[in-house]
Amino acid sequence: MPPAVTLMQTEPAEFAPLLRMSGISKSFPGVKALESVDFAVGAGEIHAFLGENGAGKSTLLKILSGAQAPDTGTISLDGKATVFATPQDAQRAGIVTIYQEFTLAPDMSIAENVFVGRELGSRFFVNHGLMEEETRKISRRIGLDREPSTRVRDLAVAEQQMVEIARALSMKSRIIVMDEPTSALSRSEVEKLFTIVRGLKAEGISTIFVTHRLEEVFEICDRYTVLRDGRNAGAGRVPETSIEGIIRMMVGRDVGLLAHRQGSFTQSEVALEVKGLNRKRKATDASAIELHDVSFKVHKGEILGLAGLVGAGRTESARAIFGADPLDSGEVIVGGTPARIASPSDAIAQGIGLVPEDRKQQALFLGLAIRTNLSMAAHDHISGWGPFISAARETALVEDYRRKLNIRMTSGEQLVGNLSGGNQQKVVLARWLALRPNVLIVDEPTRGIDVGAKVEVHNLLIEMAREGIAVIVISSELPEVLSLADRIVTMREGRVTGNVPGPGATQEQLMTLMTMSAPKAA
Ligand SMILES: Nc1ncnc2c1ncn2[C@@H]1O[C@H](COP(=O)(O)OP(=O)(O)OP(=O)(O)O)[C@@H](O)[C@H]1O
Ligand SMILES: [Mg+2]
Repeated sequence: MPPAVTLMQTEPAEFAPLLRMSGISKSFPGVKALESVDFAVGAGEIHAFLGENGAGKSTLLKILSGAQAPDTGTISLDGKATVFATPQDAQRAGIVTIYQEFTLAPDMSIAENVFVGRELGSRFFVNHGLMEEETRKISRRIGLDREPSTRVRDLAVAEQQMVEIARALSMKSRIIVMDEPTSALSRSEVEKLFTIVRGLKAEGISTIFVTHRLEEVFEICDRYTVLRDGRNAGAGRVPETSIEGIIRMMVGRDVGLLAHRQGSFTQSEVALEVKGLNRKRKATDASAIELHDVSFKVHKGEILGLAGLVGAGRTESARAIFGADPLDSGEVIVGGTPARIASPSDAIAQGIGLVPEDRKQQALFLGLAIRTNLSMAAHDHISGWGPFISAARETALVEDYRRKLNIRMTSGEQLVGNLSGGNQQKVVLARWLALRPNVLIVDEPTRGIDVGAKVEVHNLLIEMAREGIAVIVISSELPEVLSLADRIVTMREGRVTGNVPGPGATQEQLMTLMTMSAPKAA
């Protein structure tokens, strides 16, 4: 890939960082999250902060933003030692954080969210006009084309993120911390975000950027820091390293980027067929995406890839099959028999599972133990497919998936809410895998998952297919679809536009099918 790297033009001979964190350690019960970590960021620099799931990235950034206190270590800004006891302290010093999970108030307007806690006006009146005017100025700067009075609820995910950025800019920040800002964005939205970040750089504002998509590092970042198991594993200038080099620092060994599967599937009976799914947009719908005559089949033991751009209707099809959204017409045929699926519990009873794309919808119980979250799926066996699971089997289940997915956890008793973002994602996957459905639909299964674990997730999907489960993989990453799928269905604007064998398919071919309007079969 051509590294469109923006080098720091005038780096002083001696790197005098704007921010320096030294010897930062932080422990939680049973976990040493950070051990004597050093971290330095220059002015006007885009700094990639990398590491596997659970390496300690979010923890260090929470310390930087005053949300958590370090056990030991110091922070200096402009060479002056400083302590951030609260997020307000850090904000006053010009450090603004956009967390891994958004923190906007959905029922408030854009302007209210931008100025929340710092409302403009006199002592007794909030001056809405002034706040909206200021918000409009900032919005224009970052290309957010929405009225400041629009409710945040009505914005797309990417726009919500721009509101977070607008809020950061309204605070006169010097360092903007973005914890996995791109994991929920489509490619074109990522490009928009990068334009904004480059603009910030031109104004001398530094960005700390966490991502699991390593190509992005080479596209936009100047320097990088890698953590492994809570310790420094490498740091330097991006043009002086490579993706392989970064992975080696992250994982401590070489890993392949993709699992390979093509060609192993032999034709068998149809596990699931959908025929003529139609869905018109309702006035009450949040989603604007309609479905038009969506039809496809997936066989036992087959991996079907669903490819398309954002808005193609892949997630909507999955939700409709799973009974999460109603259909206007269409048939869902499970194992040769037409099924009546009016709700997710109907779908589960029919042996269909869905791992949704949105982390917040994934119904993890953050305040409960990992083992409870995992075995909850197993408890569904009572009404569905099998016997009650004993405590011993529960322990075995947790241990099995901890090993298979390399979930970084202290024990099955640990609360899911205390896992890192990527490890929470793995628990979600494990929970559905434990259900052993006949048909499993996974929507963006590796979003937010680090490079090493990605291969583990791929291998697990391949193993499930080998055991006879029909797997439908929805993914925005074409290499992922190409390496996994036996057959690929492409969609665009709620319609199926192609249905091709996986082996031999190319990115170019899929892109063409994903962007064309006339249906075509192969
Ligand atoms: N409040 C907490 N209580 C207990 N353990 C915690 C807490 N917060 C984080 N941890 C643990 O600290 C370690 C580092 O987690 P952190 O969230 O910093 O990882 P990360 O690098 O951001 O990972 P990801 O890429 O998955 O987001 C993990 O083992 C996590 O389980
Ligand atoms: Mg994190």
